[in-house]
Amino acid sequence: MTQEFDAIVASAQAAFTEARTPADLENAKAQYVGKSGRITELMKGLAALPVDEKKSRGAAINVAKQAIEAALNERRQALADAELQTQLKAEALDVSLPGRVREPGGLHPVSLTLERIEQIFASMGFDVADGPEVESDWHSFTSLNNPPNHPARSMQDTFYVDIDGDDGIPYNLRPHTSPMQVRFAHQHIKKYAEAVQRGEPMPEIRVIAPGRTYRVDSDATHSPMFHQCEGLWLGENVSFKDLKVVFTDFCRTFFESDDLALRFRPSFFPFTEPSAEIDIQFQSGPLAGKWLEVAGSGQVHPNVVRNMGLDPEKHIGFAFGMGPDRLTMLRYGVNDLRLFFEGDIRFLKQFR
Ligand code: DAH
Repeated sequence: MTQEFDAIVASAQAAFTEARTPADLENAKAQYVGKSGRITELMKGLAALPVDEKKSRGAAINVAKQAIEAALNERRQALADAELQTQLKAEALDVSLPGRVREPGGLHPVSLTLERIEQIFASMGFDVADGPEVESDWHSFTSLNNPPNHPARSMQDTFYVDIDGDDGIPYNLRPHTSPMQVRFAHQHIKKYAEAVQRGEPMPEIRVIAPGRTYRVDSDATHSPMFHQCEGLWLGENVSFKDLKVVFTDFCRTFFESDDLALRFRPSFFPFTEPSAEIDIQFQSGPLAGKWLEVAGSGQVHPNVVRNMGLDPEKHIGFAFGMGPDRLTMLRYGVNDLRLFFEGDIRFLKQFR
């Protein structure tokens, strides 16, 4: 009798060993201890036997059943271990690979220039103002003495937005930072009115406004998005001479060079009279001897002062608009403006 059971146990063990996957193993299990497995059938057969025989045969069947279950569990464990091993092998880590380091970042070269410009002008008592990049036609042009159909509008090939302003003219992506002149004056107009009321001296406007500007232009020295920095100094008697002093000081500090020559070349802008382009000349280095244009400038036109809501007899002074991108190229010897805006990390890393 036990021989009969031993044979069943042996055949179960063999079947389990043959099972290559957990599913195979569960199938094999069903044949022995499942609902109609061989052991289960033997148990069912006990019912018909006399009590004595039931006991001894039942005990023997149980021994066989336990042996089968032990074998089953052992094989289950073995299959699970094998599966884990395969998985671990598949996910093998190459611990000799360098880790993923987060490299320290750095400021963009143009941001470095903007910071530098702000620091230098702050040391000369200038405020720093910020304003919108989507502008009304009035702020970008008309308020600056450049009304619709004025030929000077063609100096700036402007992007327009598909939304009309209150005047029925579409908004534009500001082609220069000059609208900040009028905006800044308007923001502080109460201060000026109060000073007049109290009979105090007129507060000066001394401000720079750096930021992004846009024009329909794209080549090695022009990008459709670029940067400008506006400057404005209005007081009771601020003259062209002051412009020369301030701008010369700025350039020499910015380029850390005392033997830098400046040239104010007559020009035209509707918002200044007289107007001048400012050129600089290095005395040494790879660019020595060349005149390089860095800004437009001039005495602020009385019409612009009126559009600020101020009295052109009391607010007199100069404005300038310079190109921080250009200054960055000159400072670091970069010859293609587009490099600044392509986001190539190999280029940008060098300024870290
Ligand atoms: N807005 C001028 C431009 O983009 C630059 C400029 C010239 C600004 C003369 C000024 C100025 O404030 O006085 O070409």
